[in-house]
Amino acid sequence: MASKLEALNRWVDEVARLTQPDRIHWCDGSEAEYQALVELMLDTGDLIELNPSTHPNCYLHRSNPSDVARVEHLTFVCTQEADDAGPNNHWMAPDEAHRKIDALFAGCMKGRTLYVIPYCMGPIDSPIARCGVEITDSPYVVANMRIMTRMGVKALERIERDGTFVRGLHSTGDLDPAKRFIMHFPEERAIKSIGSGYGGNALLGKKCHALRIASHQARQEGWLAEHMLILGIENPQGETHYVAAAFPSACGKTNLAMLIPPKAYPGWKIWTIGDDICWMQPGPDGRLWAINPEAGFFGVAPGTSAKTNPNALAMLDRDAIFTNVAETADNQPWWEGLPDGKPAKDWQGRDYDPANGPAAHPNSRFTVSARQCASWSPRAEDPQGVPISAIVFGGRRESLVPLVFESRDWTHGVLVGAAMGSETTAAATGAVGVLRRDSMAMKPFCGYNFADYFAHWLSFDKAGAKLPKIFHVNWFRKGADGKFVWPGFGDNMRVLEWVIERCKGTAGANETPIGNLPRAQDLNLAGLDLSPADLELLLTVDRDGWASEYASIGEYLDSFGARTPDALRQEHARTSAALAQA
Ligand code: GDP
Ligand code: PGA
Ligand code: MN
Ligand code: MN
Repeated sequence: MASKLEALNRWVDEVARLTQPDRIHWCDGSEAEYQALVELMLDTGDLIELNPSTHPNCYLHRSNPSDVARVEHLTFVCTQEADDAGPNNHWMAPDEAHRKIDALFAGCMKGRTLYVIPYCMGPIDSPIARCGVEITDSPYVVANMRIMTRMGVKALERIERDGTFVRGLHSTGDLDPAKRFIMHFPEERAIKSIGSGYGGNALLGKKCHALRIASHQARQEGWLAEHMLILGIENPQGETHYVAAAFPSACGKTNLAMLIPPKAYPGWKIWTIGDDICWMQPGPDGRLWAINPEAGFFGVAPGTSAKTNPNALAMLDRDAIFTNVAETADNQPWWEGLPDGKPAKDWQGRDYDPANGPAAHPNSRFTVSARQCASWSPRAEDPQGVPISAIVFGGRRESLVPLVFESRDWTHGVLVGAAMGSETTAAATGAVGVLRRDSMAMKPFCGYNFADYFAHWLSFDKAGAKLPKIFHVNWFRKGADGKFVWPGFGDNMRVLEWVIERCKGTAGANETPIGNLPRAQDLNLAGLDLSPADLELLLTVDRDGWASEYASIGEYLDSFGARTPDALRQEHARTSAALAQA
């Protein structure tokens, strides 16, 4: 097979000459193709069948233990000018990067099949959607891409119509971490990734295309590609408001996106549009309209239970791929946080021994079609997207940062997003629990200089724009006992309600230098077991602590030099002055 698009055929030929596969397979995205790949991987041991009576059509994949997370230190943005990648990225000159990585690709597919995967990020007929083609030698990648994107014949037709596509070349290589690189060429709309089979490094539609390449393209074309979930909140009167929320990896996006409201909310419903990525652009009405470019969820398994995320648990009992979870004695998937069952084999396939650490890898994942989620919104397929009423930023902060606050206006909100800090998680290799700045949860994903990115965000505030209100949340505040103070999960509904009420102008707040916070009486706290001291911790501003936080934010803004927008520095100066006046 080949395509009607000569540029695509030429590229496939070029890659085949370099990588020398035994076979070339153009993916059509059919069920039969998926099943054939599963059979192949069962034979090679890439997949292990899970218990077919409890988990039909579910499989376990065990990664190489050195390849279980994104590798930020091996991820490069290769623009002509180093300054265009910015201090937030690792940079390599494009010529040097191509030379280095092509040497690793040379002959790497000998004895293997080269798969050509045409995919569409977003509903096939959406003007906001964009397409790509991933070439890979990994059947695991093909199977995951089929769940995570609109892949196959329809995508290829759109690519042939559009005449353009992002080129992503991937090979698992020999998994030697010394020969692993994830390289991005935003000016060429191209990606080259070798040496890793892990999701975020290998499923190129996701982080590499939909965030790094797309953010660069979005800046040129006047839209935004963000690391955000999208949800709809329907009230008992049948009105639905849409919220987009950016939290760093493993900080609660998937959970919030499919929340089930607590008892105190009869008649309310949360609709899921997306759990990781949001593309949005201004509509003719001045509002921001958003789509989820993905078609599935690549979610964190540990912590997922009937209590924390019942919608997620329910969708995982059929047609799912699990990566690096543990197994029970009767071959059911298992991870820390599940109240029932116990692990027999750990994520590396060893007999479970607590001395070896957790049974499931802390970054173990599930891949599942979004259609299996009970809260999946029909509007997720709407080519025009949904209008966004509120944007929420959030991080994992055990101290200082209150439960929720509202920014004063768009510029202040952009500062709040740019200033975001969060403790690192197992989603990327490296130390866990280290506080770092993670602007808009895009530190690992922005395909260009953060200072230019902040300026791009500010540029949406123009005549005729009806922009969302911007908020900041923190579900992870800890008390003196080291435990999370806020119950989180379903109870985050209480914060979402206040957010929507603020957008409508119907909820009260306490104005502070860092923004507007709810008072206890502004939140629905019915049925919660929180002491006055807990509420005090969650809903007050520690002025001294915030003064030093703002000093550190100022240093961070300075680290981008003259490219940092003046408006952001002025906003920072205003807030710092207000904090000093206390
Ligand atoms: P994502 O990677 O941003 O999509 O984050 P997830 O929703 O997968 O959550 C990552 C981890 O944080 C999981 O172990 C969750 O159980 C946990 N988590 C998510 N939401 C909350 C919350 O509201 N409170 C607490 N304490 N933990 C949460
Ligand atoms: P996450 O997505 O945000 O759900 O963790 C994967 C990642 O960011 O690596
Ligand atoms: Mn993510
Ligand atoms: Mn997630």
